[in-house]
Amino acid sequence: MEDMPIPSEDAVRDALATVQDPEIKRPITELNMVESVDISDGGKVTVTVLLTIAGCPMKTRLQTDTTEAVGKVEGVTEVEVRLGVMSDEQRAALKDQLRGGQAEKEIPFAKPGSLTRVFAVASGKGGVGKSSVTVNLAAALADSGLKVGVVDADIYGFSVPRMLGVERRPTQVDDMILPPDSHDVKVISIGMFVPGNQPVVWRGPMLHRALRQFLADVFWGDLDVLLLDLPPGTGDVAISVAQLIPNAEILVVTTPQQAAAEVAERAGAIALQTKQRVAGVIENMSWLELPDGTRQEIFGSGGGSAVARSLSTSVGVPVELLGQIPLDVTLREGADAGTPVVLGNPDSPAAVALRGIAKGLGTRARGLSGRSLGLTPTGR
Ligand SMILES: Nc1ncnc2c1ncn2[C@@H]1O[C@H](COP(=O)(O)OP(=O)(O)OP(=O)(O)O)[C@@H](O)[C@H]1O
Ligand SMILES: [Mg+2]
Repeated sequence: MEDMPIPSEDAVRDALATVQDPEIKRPITELNMVESVDISDGGKVTVTVLLTIAGCPMKTRLQTDTTEAVGKVEGVTEVEVRLGVMSDEQRAALKDQLRGGQAEKEIPFAKPGSLTRVFAVASGKGGVGKSSVTVNLAAALADSGLKVGVVDADIYGFSVPRMLGVERRPTQVDDMILPPDSHDVKVISIGMFVPGNQPVVWRGPMLHRALRQFLADVFWGDLDVLLLDLPPGTGDVAISVAQLIPNAEILVVTTPQQAAAEVAERAGAIALQTKQRVAGVIENMSWLELPDGTRQEIFGSGGGSAVARSLSTSVGVPVELLGQIPLDVTLREGADAGTPVVLGNPDSPAAVALRGIAKGLGTRARGLSGRSLGLTPTGR
């Protein structure tokens, strides 16, 4: 006990550098959140950490993480974490730092050099599983180590937070919004800004502004993939996405039913007007596997490949059917419980299919092949 070394300030600071702000996901030292470090002769360390805002919902977590990290340093006998709050100037400096010194808010994903792949999940009809596909692809991609964000742009549906088990609301630091996360996926939903689940009538321009704000005011950090869950149909939101993020690629979801397939084609065909790339087609609810191993095609068959074929013709480049997801009770149960089936029940038939699709999306290099060149196709 007597020859226990007094912990060095460097060692304590190194430990603090391993503590991340739970929302911004960067070391608190880098964010200038550590105001002071005091080390007493007896090895007691007192750290003052500055919160971005007074009512920070994650302060307990920050306190626990800091205590744990500093407690591991050799010679530390006791840790006290005091919490303060950033001044207006400190907060402004942080915001500048996060925005990379840019004064103007812009949509990071729309910048020419952006490395984030953006997928807009679209369908012609409602209820075909867009949101289910979105959250499962997001969870699977995050699970494979990618940094993933989801925008729930379905202003009438907003089911994404529930399906991903997001309970926290976003934290606002002045005009910057820090998205909550769950299963390592950052999530922003219009539902988070609507008091008490009231139905809202959104008109085109309002929607466009809301979407713009989601993309520009939310601090996403460096994302590998951003998924947008679009409302069903070929409406205003799809056009707004195309204007705000021209390099967003469209993922078309359909059921095997022929009628659904025809509507899905129309959704995909907006890509032709907006010159966006169609990343591919996903067929959902393809069949039900019966106990004897046979497949019952409840909604018919062929819808996915029909959409892929038809879109290939209309956009003038090959569009692939990326996968077929069977009907699976565990998928619905996972969505209701807030744990996507790809994580909660990874060996179930739907999870296997979804992980396969995610793998294809995550590994395919971004290149010219399959990219719409903006020429007028002669197919139709
Ligand atoms: N493969 C599947 N197996 C079982 N249930 C499924 C499957 N796909 C979706 N579901 C269920 O079907 C319902 C509709 O799915 P989801 O909400 O994902 O569709 P959506 O296209 O986003 O609908 P909306 O147009 O209303 O936004 C949900 O209850 C979901 O759990
Ligand atoms: Mg939905």
